[in-house]
Amino acid sequence: MTSPPTAAPDTHTLGSAEAGTPSAARRGTEFEGTATVVARQTVADGVVSLELAASCGEPLPPWRPGAHIDVVLPTGVIRQYSLCGPVKDTARWRVAVLREPDGRGGSQWIHDHLVEGGELRVRGPRNNFPLRPAARYLFVGGGIGITPLLPMIAEAEAAGAEWSLLYGGRTRASMAFLPELEGYGERVTVRPQDQYGLLDLTGHLGDPDRSALVYCCGPAGLIDAVEAHCAGWPTGALNVERFAAADVRQPAGDEAEQPIEVELRASGTTLTVPPGLSVLKAVEQAGVPVLSSCEEGICGSCETSVLEGEVDHRDSLLTDDERAANDTMLICVSRARGRRLVLDL
Ligand code: FES
Repeated sequence: MTSPPTAAPDTHTLGSAEAGTPSAARRGTEFEGTATVVARQTVADGVVSLELAASCGEPLPPWRPGAHIDVVLPTGVIRQYSLCGPVKDTARWRVAVLREPDGRGGSQWIHDHLVEGGELRVRGPRNNFPLRPAARYLFVGGGIGITPLLPMIAEAEAAGAEWSLLYGGRTRASMAFLPELEGYGERVTVRPQDQYGLLDLTGHLGDPDRSALVYCCGPAGLIDAVEAHCAGWPTGALNVERFAAADVRQPAGDEAEQPIEVELRASGTTLTVPPGLSVLKAVEQAGVPVLSSCEEGICGSCETSVLEGEVDHRDSLLTDDERAANDTMLICVSRARGRRLVLDL
């Protein structure tokens, strides 16, 4: 989800070309409602795991490795957390939350106020980071980025695939789920930075391998480094998930300064979106309901089908192929190359 190296990374793989309506492909069957914290546990310094069950007692919808849920906090903050428990468990979803002192307050609220028995609004699951079949997987996790990789590893193991994990963190004490990973033996290499320095990506990834897929989640610096290492790998071999938006191309010259006209075909409404206002905000102001969450072009909540017009993609999520197809956009950040867009809203 950043400026592509020679072989463009696949930020995720299910998209419009493969599965019809892009939003449906990513969203699948969603739950939206109140969840109860049925277990809470500190799993590393600054990291708690939460197990959530639907407060109504109903089973939760199925999900696949790489999926995340939106957590809607009482403060109004919406955060995404990767599901990291067993895929087959439809009674509970497990997420892990890192306390982020410099964040928007969501993780701190969870750490300080959310106890067992507490409730919060959740929706999802949605999957922007699906695991594709492969003979060999090279996983790279940094810090809390281990969470989406846990169910991927379980699936790779169950499928009999060859796999290995390189897992880094600031210190061993800050790295979550180490006891769980120990069971996998030598396939897992744990490298706390205070003991080993930066991760040895060259040693772990090796040379480009047509049979292998690389999955990486972690801080931006790690993802950037993995992308650089995989520059010579086949297109689509690298799959990453970011916590924060990549540096997105800034529009040049007059392009940023133009108002655009956006027709919402299903609603029979046409809006003028001035410079400085996102299409998402303009749509919301017009009273047309649309899902959104991160408002940074990373979560996929606001993905909308494009019926006419050329999109100026500014997100950190869509693949190059999806951008080229020009039939979907993330309206929280992307705009139009021309003056007009027609959206399926
Ligand atoms: S709201 Fe997250 S991508 Fe638009």
